[in-house]
Amino acid sequence: MADDSDHLTWTRPLGSAAELKRIFAGVPAPVAALCATVDGENVSFVASSFVPVSLDPPLVSVCVRTGSTTWARLRGCGRLGISVLERAQSHIARRLASHAPDKFTGIDLSAEASGEVFVVGAAVTMTCSIAGTAPAGDHEIVFLLIERAQACAEAEPVVFHGSRFRSLSREPLAHAEWWPLTEWQ
Ligand SMILES: Cc1cc2nc3c(=O)[nH]c(=O)nc-3n(C[C@H](O)[C@H](O)[C@H](O)COP(=O)(O)O)c2cc1C
Repeated sequence: MADDSDHLTWTRPLGSAAELKRIFAGVPAPVAALCATVDGENVSFVASSFVPVSLDPPLVSVCVRTGSTTWARLRGCGRLGISVLERAQSHIARRLASHAPDKFTGIDLSAEASGEVFVVGAAVTMTCSIAGTAPAGDHEIVFLLIERAQACAEAEPVVFHGSRFRSLSREPLAHAEWWPLTEWQ
């Protein structure tokens, strides 16, 4: 158990955004690359705010910072590809999130005729279209309708935690009960 000196505390209204960011960093998250061909060019945006939302209709969401220039390009595309990165792909996450002109060099991508682009070897891939948005403070929640999805059962998705890319252990916790998918309605 961590002692008190390891604890971060944030309180409104004095706590700063930088401190809140450190609290948010304690929440483990997947790393999803959202990619599409826009005006003949590959465009990529990385989101650790990727969340499955609804089964019927099939929806996922991401939270996008207001003013993101990359998202401004992606939001007009008809279809986009979501690739949940696999542990072996952690080194490309920051690159895909950057504005580097050569950021796709050496990255194995698969582009579909309808515009969506995938990172080859990702743990989960989804073809999505934007279904709606909701304002959320300095971010916007973007709801995406899933047209097609694929998951690799053996994949080990990378986990973003404490501002680092980490791997999951495949070992279930000793006393954890198995939770069948059918019980989660
Ligand atoms: C691991 C990681 C997770 C990120 N998650 C988000 C996110 O959830 N929402 C967001 O708006 N930006 C997120 N970003 C930043 C975006 O990926 C985006 O590429 C970056 O903001 C590019 O700048 P621009 O938005 O000004 O174009 C993340 C970046 C990284 C490396």
